[in-house]
Amino acid sequence: MFLKSWKVLVSVVVGALFLMATVAFAAGAPDKVDLAKYKGAKSVVPFDHKHHVDAKVPCATCHHKQKDGKTVPCLECHKKDADGATPSFKDAFHKTCKGCHEKTVKEKADSKAPTKCGDCHK
Ligand code: HEC
Ligand code: HEC
Ligand code: HEC
Ligand code: HEC
Repeated sequence: MFLKSWKVLVSVVVGALFLMATVAFAAGAPDKVDLAKYKGAKSVVPFDHKHHVDAKVPCATCHHKQKDGKTVPCLECHKKDADGATPSFKDAFHKTCKGCHEKTVKEKADSKAPTKCGDCHK
């Protein structure tokens, strides 16, 4: 009986810590991010970070790799040109962003997720 309640207590504490970590991570998400540093021939995509976070897209879907346990701009690893197995930032964004949008539209025809060049590069 004594042992059992300890187990319950431990699992409650562990659960609470896990929840706090999740909330802390979400709290670290900025509402706005600026993609201007990627500006080339095309206009910068007005990416609504908050909208995607609120839609419960897991952080790691986009921030698939971190540095020293921290989220860093894609540009730290994805440069203008591909480097070995690391795709260029253009391909990295298109695969992540357009990839999910195309999948979404396939599953839900009335989705507002943009898939055409001009609907992202306004
Ligand atoms: C789902 C949104 C999305 C769609 C659709 C999309 N792109 Fe992009 N593209 C991005 C993002 C995000 C970046 C990187 C940041 C930025 O430029 O805003 C980017 C970067 C680029 C770049 C490199 C940066 C530059 O300005 O030169 C080019 C070129 C580009 N896209 C061309 C295209 C073309 C051509 C199409 C259509 C075939 C297209 N994109 C469709 C989101 C999109
Ligand atoms: C739909 C894709 C997507 C999701 C989901 C997402 N982010 Fe981001 N986030 C981005 C992009 C793109 C940037 C801009 C990166 C850049 O400047 O290269 C960014 C920027 C950031 C930044 C600013 C500095 C940096 O490290 O680049 C932080 C912090 C961040 N995100 C945290 C989070 C957290 C925490 C979550 C989950 C709660 C989250 N993000 C979910 C795409 C996303
Ligand atoms: C700390 C380094 C690092 C950061 C930051 C990073 N990436 Fe990557 N990414 C890589 C490497 C390395 C690869 C090569 C394949 C692999 O090792 O997963 C890659 C591959 C990819 C791929 C191709 C995956 C596949 O299956 O073909 C996409 C898409 C991608 N990254 C998108 C992003 C986006 C979007 C961001 C920013 C939100 C980002 N990455 C941030 C290092 C990083
Ligand atoms: C996991 C899926 C997913 C990923 C990854 C994703 N998106 Fe989206 N995005 C959506 C969905 C779903 C919508 C439609 C939202 C709605 O209907 O309200 C959307 C909407 C948008 C819109 C339309 C305006 C808005 O905010 O509603 C833009 C622009 C956009 N996304 C850009 C991006 C960019 C840039 C990236 C990559 C950095 C990205 N998205 C990554 C699912 C995704």
